[in-house]
Amino acid sequence: MKKSIRIFDTTLRDGEQAPGCSMNISDKVRVARQLEKLGVDVIEAGFAIASPGDFESVQAVAAAVDKPIVASLSRAVKADIDRAWEAVKGAKRPMIHTFIATSDIHMEHKLKMTREQVLERAAEMVAYAKSLCGHVEFSAEDASRSDIDFLCQVLETVIASGADVLNIPDTVGYSTPNEMAALITHIKKNVKDIDKVIISVHCHNDLGLAVANSLASVGAGATQVECTINGLGERAGNASLEEIVMALTTRKDLYEVAHNIDTQQIYPTSRMVSSTTGQPVQVNKAIVGENAFAHEAGIHQHGVLANRMTYEIMTPESVGISGNKMVLGKHSGKHALADRLVSMGYHLTDETLSGVFEEFKKLCDTKKNVDDRDLEALVSEATHTESQFYRLENFEITSGNLIEARAEVSVSLDGQMKSEKGTGDGPVDAAFKAIELISGKSFKLQTYRINAVTEGEDAMGMVDVTMDIGGKSYKGRGVSTDIIESSIRACLDALNRAI
Ligand code: KIV
Ligand code: ZN
Repeated sequence: MKKSIRIFDTTLRDGEQAPGCSMNISDKVRVARQLEKLGVDVIEAGFAIASPGDFESVQAVAAAVDKPIVASLSRAVKADIDRAWEAVKGAKRPMIHTFIATSDIHMEHKLKMTREQVLERAAEMVAYAKSLCGHVEFSAEDASRSDIDFLCQVLETVIASGADVLNIPDTVGYSTPNEMAALITHIKKNVKDIDKVIISVHCHNDLGLAVANSLASVGAGATQVECTINGLGERAGNASLEEIVMALTTRKDLYEVAHNIDTQQIYPTSRMVSSTTGQPVQVNKAIVGENAFAHEAGIHQHGVLANRMTYEIMTPESVGISGNKMVLGKHSGKHALADRLVSMGYHLTDETLSGVFEEFKKLCDTKKNVDDRDLEALVSEATHTESQFYRLENFEITSGNLIEARAEVSVSLDGQMKSEKGTGDGPVDAAFKAIELISGKSFKLQTYRINAVTEGEDAMGMVDVTMDIGGKSYKGRGVSTDIIESSIRACLDALNRAI
């Protein structure tokens, strides 16, 4: 029988730690349900002690999914472990994931602990976690830069304390594939009872080697890989789930391992994570990038037309990219829209669905072809806007290269209409000045990003902003076929979040 690799997804924890990628509770539940559909074995839902929001999200994810194990991260500290257990204990298959650093540099400068103290703490906390929860993972943070004998000593000790999974992170993305393979081989040879636990790897992408390091570890005997959708994560990110899974699938002749992922759910999951976090996927990203299956050169096109296998090692259909993107039109009803959204993994409340339906109808008047990407953008804006205190009514703009831009914006504030005029350096600036007057709040635009949701002249523009409002940063998103309107909506979304 083929060995099976456990896919541990940490998009909702390590992925969410990436700057600008934070998700609210309903975002996380939606993504978790999609991860379940994708077939991941473990969902790391968050770091329960980090904030009340994190705690509630982990609890909500634990209640929302049935099949995958749901884990919460915790430092090797009693209060963290208690909080993690409180958050995951409602899951059908809960797990506590506890960690402590084992490299000299982390122990000396960050933890200010000796090796003996770290060893003792790891043993004690794994035993404590195990007294609460039947399934415990231990991570030796910065394992790849740790003294190998000490690392093995820690691993052996936590196995004796009850750990079920030993995770070997390349925390700073320093290792190379040969080194990771050698490390796993050494651990397998030198740690007593290693065959009784699952060996996991968790590779960061600082040198662009996260996927290669994960695959080399699998080749050396690791049976779990920790990864994220679209490779999201701290700094340069984590190993990308879609790349690992498709490498294991496409090169099964080499790896000879099985997995539980439904590869046709890869693309829908990637799209959902991208639209939920507002992080675009780079166009040439392997597997899920816009150009991943586009053949531009004449010779390639000719070859593919003659036989796809000439230049395609896997089909777009195998990762869930369908050629038929036209889904709904202006005569489609609310049921058809709801059905389509459910098939894309979006289960909306009646109220949100009605709002999306209204926007969908408006969009059908201005845009010829409405496809899944448009629907994602509409849902993303609707679910992003938690409170609708400020609601855009209408606006007028005058702008040009020889005149100062002017804007008049009308907004309803909790039902009360208010209009103001603003001038500025361009139409967006002028509109934002008017909104400052309307809201009576001064704010500073920190980041502004615009992306076309689809190709074509009538594509919607999705604007993501970060604004400093009263000394705190808030994100906002707006979509429309008019990019000034998208910008105004994004600004109001951030203001709504601030209250
Ligand atoms: O990168 C890392 O070391 C981690 C651990 C907490 C698993 O994210
Ligand atoms: Zn990490």
